[in-house]
Amino acid sequence: MTNHANMRWGENDKLGKSWDNCNVSGKIKTEFVTQLIAEDRPITFSPNLPNVHSPAEENVSILEIWGGQPLSGQVNVSGAKNSALVLMAGAVLCPEECSLRNVPSLVDVSCMSEILAALGVKVKREGDRLVINASTIGQSKAPYELVSQLRASFFVIGPLLARLGVARIPLPGGCAIGARPVDLHVRGLQALGAEVQIDHGIVYAYVTGVNKRLKGAKIYLDYPSVGATETLMMAATLADGETTIENAAQEPEVIDLANFCRAMGAKIRGAGTNTITISGVSRLHTADYSIIPDRVEAGTFLVAGAITRSEILVSPVIPDHLTAVIAKLQAMGVQVVKEGSHGVRVIPSQNILATDIETLPYPGFPTDMQAQFMALLTLSEGDSIISETVFENRLGHVPELSRMGADIRIKGNHAIIRGVPMLSGAPVVATDLRASAALVLAGLAANGKTTIQGLHHMDRGYEQIESKLQKLGARMHRIKSDAKLDDRSNDAVVLPSKPPMLNQHS
Ligand code: UD1
Repeated sequence: MTNHANMRWGENDKLGKSWDNCNVSGKIKTEFVTQLIAEDRPITFSPNLPNVHSPAEENVSILEIWGGQPLSGQVNVSGAKNSALVLMAGAVLCPEECSLRNVPSLVDVSCMSEILAALGVKVKREGDRLVINASTIGQSKAPYELVSQLRASFFVIGPLLARLGVARIPLPGGCAIGARPVDLHVRGLQALGAEVQIDHGIVYAYVTGVNKRLKGAKIYLDYPSVGATETLMMAATLADGETTIENAAQEPEVIDLANFCRAMGAKIRGAGTNTITISGVSRLHTADYSIIPDRVEAGTFLVAGAITRSEILVSPVIPDHLTAVIAKLQAMGVQVVKEGSHGVRVIPSQNILATDIETLPYPGFPTDMQAQFMALLTLSEGDSIISETVFENRLGHVPELSRMGADIRIKGNHAIIRGVPMLSGAPVVATDLRASAALVLAGLAANGKTTIQGLHHMDRGYEQIESKLQKLGARMHRIKSDAKLDDRSNDAVVLPSKPPMLNQHS
């Protein structure tokens, strides 16, 4: 088998491909290819890659994967991380004990539990159930150390304001995938009557008046932000009067939050459409609620089947939540069939067809599946363009996939992927949560051994991913490494002589 990590840039042409012969037509693609050639310039690779985390960290874990193993069988999907995090914040709206079931065991969930605990909320885990009791909230101020670790923790601002009339939350700041401001959250809360001051990095929001109650309002979101929709929906739940959120996010996790709030007695209509109406109530009551399956984890396993050419049954899922992902897999020649009411089976094809992808708010193609699909497209027949429109800096996996022999060039927020016949195992570093999944997928398909650093990203959002994949037949295990992070200088990886341009910051 050809070792593509040892190939030189341009050798793809010897495999019968040429940039001039893109098999996907279209003006945009032709323009990109022309611009890329014109602007082509080298970038510096290891050992000077930027550290994505503490370089001094010793005894870090790394994941070793021996690629090329076929997978088979059924894999269980955990509860949705993004639902769990926001529903935990939602439980703060309720002055009685609430139960959330199907809560995945993840670092992010533990971090959110700590934030709630710091506010005086009692959180207890019993298996996959979280019992949250916010009958007493002792603090309106969330600790910086915790909020800075988990952006989703900012979402407690809505419930705190609604319950106490005051909240002090540090700005979550940027993260690996972009600046991620909170202006839409803040402007929406102001529309609901909150005074908001941002001072020394702390958002201080409060409601004036005798009863310190927010007031229903008409809110139009400039962009259908998931987090802002969720923050405002929670805040409006206990407000005085009716709130409408227009251009609201329609993600399944928004519906899950609305359903949980409704189970606690909230009056919410239209969640899942672009207009949500909330009639404020004065108090919520206890509820026992089960979280939806994680559509991103499910999508990741579908890609695992496609990339290893293996048939896998993925369940439980809500197939409607995967419409865009399934449509793209089908466009790539991969069959996905529903099995029963809660399963989807991926039936692979030997040849993956190239396709273009643009990430969009739901029901468009999810940004959280972009990296995984890029891994798959590296092994497609032809050229594909992935356009990341949701976050400005979410292509960190590109240089790492390139280490494994992928042929990818970046132009702004677009990645142009030329399929290669085979990836080869290499030492790589995960730069964010979904990038880590993309590297695992690439490692499963690659020839030889891949070692992945930066596993703290993966542990934020994938519950027991190794054991789930091992059960399907993957050869992988986690080991402690004494090596410093990013120290790949001794690894005999020969990079393409003309590596892909990385100009998203230019
Ligand atoms: C949520 C998900 C994340 C997913 C994203 C988009 C959680 C915990 N995380 O993140 O996994 O990738 O939705 O589907 O649910 N923006 C602003 N101002 C704001 C808020 C957002 O400009 O006040 C911008 C962001 O910078 C980003 C875009 O809007 O470019 C989308 O962000 P948003 O939908 O808010 O994502 P999150 O809720 O942070």
